[in-house]
Amino acid sequence: MSGLCVCLGTFLFSISFAYDNIALRNPAYQENRYTGLSEALSQASNAVDGLKTDLSVWGGQCVISGNNKKTATWWVNLTSILSIHHMRIYYRTGNAPWGPTNGFTPRFLGFSVYVSNTTDKSEGSLCFKDTSYTVNTIPPVINITCPMHGQYVIYYNERLSWTSFPSDEYRYAHNDLCEFEIYGCRIPGVYGTNCSMPCPDNNCRYCHIETGACQGCKPGYQGHRCELECNDGKYGEVCGEECGFCADLSYCNHVNGTCLSGCDAGYKGNLCRHECDLGTYGDKCNETCGNCQDLNECHHSNGTCLTGCRAGYDGALCKTPCPDGLFGPGCVDKCNITCRGCNRVSGLCQNGCLPGWKGDYCHIECDFGTYGDMCNETCGKCLDQTHCHHTNGTCLSGCSAGYDGALCKTYCDDNFFGENCKERCNETCIGCNRKTGVCEYGCRPGWKGIYCHEACDAGYYGKRCLQECSAFCKISRDCHHVTGYCTYGCKSGWQGKDCLEVCFDSFETFGFKYRQAELLRCFEFVLWKPSFEWIFRSLHNNIEEI
Ligand SMILES: *[C@@H]1O[C@H](CO)[C@@H](O)[C@H](O)[C@H]1NC(C)=O
Ligand SMILES: *[C@@H]1O[C@H](CO)[C@@H](O)[C@H](O)[C@H]1NC(C)=O
Ligand SMILES: *[C@@H]1O[C@H](CO)[C@@H](O)[C@H](O)[C@H]1NC(C)=O
Ligand SMILES: *[C@@H]1O[C@H](CO)[C@@H](O)[C@H](O)[C@H]1NC(C)=O
Ligand SMILES: *[C@@H]1O[C@H](CO)[C@@H](O)[C@H](O)[C@H]1NC(C)=O
Ligand SMILES: *[C@@H]1O[C@H](CO)[C@@H](O)[C@H](O)[C@H]1NC(C)=O
Ligand SMILES: *[C@@H]1O[C@H](CO)[C@@H](O)[C@H](O)[C@H]1NC(C)=O
Ligand SMILES: *[C@@H]1O[C@H](CO)[C@@H](O)[C@H](O)[C@H]1NC(C)=O
Ligand SMILES: *[C@@H]1O[C@H](CO)[C@@H](O)[C@H](O)[C@H]1NC(C)=O
Ligand SMILES: *[C@@H]1O[C@H](CO)[C@@H](O)[C@H](O)[C@H]1NC(C)=O
Ligand SMILES: *[C@@H]1O[C@H](CO)[C@@H](O)[C@H](O)[C@H]1NC(C)=O
Repeated sequence: MSGLCVCLGTFLFSISFAYDNIALRNPAYQENRYTGLSEALSQASNAVDGLKTDLSVWGGQCVISGNNKKTATWWVNLTSILSIHHMRIYYRTGNAPWGPTNGFTPRFLGFSVYVSNTTDKSEGSLCFKDTSYTVNTIPPVINITCPMHGQYVIYYNERLSWTSFPSDEYRYAHNDLCEFEIYGCRIPGVYGTNCSMPCPDNNCRYCHIETGACQGCKPGYQGHRCELECNDGKYGEVCGEECGFCADLSYCNHVNGTCLSGCDAGYKGNLCRHECDLGTYGDKCNETCGNCQDLNECHHSNGTCLTGCRAGYDGALCKTPCPDGLFGPGCVDKCNITCRGCNRVSGLCQNGCLPGWKGDYCHIECDFGTYGDMCNETCGKCLDQTHCHHTNGTCLSGCSAGYDGALCKTYCDDNFFGENCKERCNETCIGCNRKTGVCEYGCRPGWKGIYCHEACDAGYYGKRCLQECSAFCKISRDCHHVTGYCTYGCKSGWQGKDCLEVCFDSFETFGFKYRQAELLRCFEFVLWKPSFEWIFRSLHNNIEEI
């Protein structure tokens, strides 16, 4: 019986059907294999081995599925989406007469066949489902016409509830297929009984195997006859892909999505789907990010630093250095005006400070006692060192004794002394100390005391007040403290300002009366007595000098 079927099928095939069995020896799978037998006797691929002479378990030509299952699934992978015309299923008979008496007949009832592009039948299309056969009417070989495209053909049966079934053969789901033949074309894009005619529509990928009506376009095309290119920013398979960030969407290639006119700013790659690499942005990702706080946060299209700038930079792009006088992140910190060469990043004063200031940021006044550039000038002799002005050294509360000038660095002028040199030394003073006014080298003749403002004591005169006034002053020892001249003239018999000359007229005959008399007088009052010879010799000398 089965042999006849095969012969008949082969005969008809050679005459009417030029379609190939595209299932033959392709990968197959079943949900539950019957494990009580060797794999060779039960495996899924037995249904596509081309053998159907022994329809019992022992021939190794049938698929045997597990017992006591609620569902049974078997599928074959056509390895690509192919055009199917029809299928023929040979069920397991056990080589016994088919019909109500054959235990396998009830197992066949209720099966369905799906064509799908995945192994999931729910994603495919139902070709056939048995709803009407009975154990009396179901044949052991069933033809199913199903002109469809798909990659997987799925055989499925289920026994989800068995209460209504009369025997175990009914109660459980099986997929005991001895052969599953699928007739169609081995290559896509053709139709006709010989699979020799290309699909009539140019851009058609899958056309009806009999009529040639297009059932699926090549990638990039759409429309009933695939006459339209994908548009509206779509491309590819069934125009289902979204173009990337093309600069001009109308230049998004309808087949492969390549942006032929380049990408929007911030994107790269053929498809313009990749954001610019970190640290770059803009047109062709050609721009380098500015000094963003965090390089990763440079916006890939416009370069905006989303987390702000690093110290020293400003602007949305953080490419603008801080203006003079400002520093820090976002340039919000102010350099001190005393700062020279304020670093835009750190605020450090690279060229030092204005005079009077110190510290990295030039906000510290010079220490007490110093002032000026780099605080390296020493204050003068201010009356109060804390009042030495830190910028120019001016002594704000005046100078200490002996010093003068704004900086109190100059000594008092001669004859001045004391704070700010306001005191004048007595002109009788020799070596007036600029601080104290003390006359260090004594006084001019006639004066005494540390400041030389006291006249000599009565009776004394001259240098250091050591000389005694003449006893022959009218009032004895009453003389001028500087000159020694007697205040009221001389006692009688004495003459001269200091009253030390004797009024005496001898030697007048020599014509040198005055000098002789003077000399003689002098000598009389000096303790020393000169001889006459010495006197004459002196006189003679005097004459010659005159
Ligand atoms: C079906 O066959 C194709 C081609 O060999 C293969 O890429 C694919 O993974 C197979 N599918 C399954 C579910 O194994
Ligand atoms: C499989 O994919 C092709 C191409 O997309 C489509 O024409 C066909 O209808 C699909 N088959 C099923 C069963 O969905
Ligand atoms: C299946 O097709 C073959 C060949 O066309 C035919 O001999 C056979 O009767 C068909 N079976 C059914 C059940 O239609
Ligand atoms: C199919 O092939 C046969 C034999 O080569 C040929 O006679 C027949 O015309 C072909 N049919 C078509 C539709 O091409
Ligand atoms: C996409 O197609 C265009 C036009 O045929 C071609 O120039 C380009 O190289 C293709 N791109 C890729 C990535 O294949
Ligand atoms: C980046 O832009 C500059 C100036 O516009 C240009 O000279 C350079 O070639 C560009 N580089 C790239 C990789 O496009
Ligand atoms: C840059 O782009 C970002 C994100 O779209 C936006 O928030 C920001 O305002 C833009 N900046 C400029 C300067 O356009
Ligand atoms: C400079 O520093 C001083 C001391 O810290 C401060 O008082 C002053 O305000 C600062 N000036 C400026 C312009 O920052
Ligand atoms: C003071 O500053 C001047 C100029 O910068 C420098 O030449 C001099 O050596 C400094 N003096 C001291 C004591 O640091
Ligand atoms: C020094 O600075 C102080 C304060 O600015 C000022 O009053 C004084 O006149 C200045 N002195 C000189 C000599 O410039
Ligand atoms: C010097 O001292 C005397 C005595 O005290 C005083 O009279 C005189 O004015 C002083 N002269 C000067 C210039 O201070």
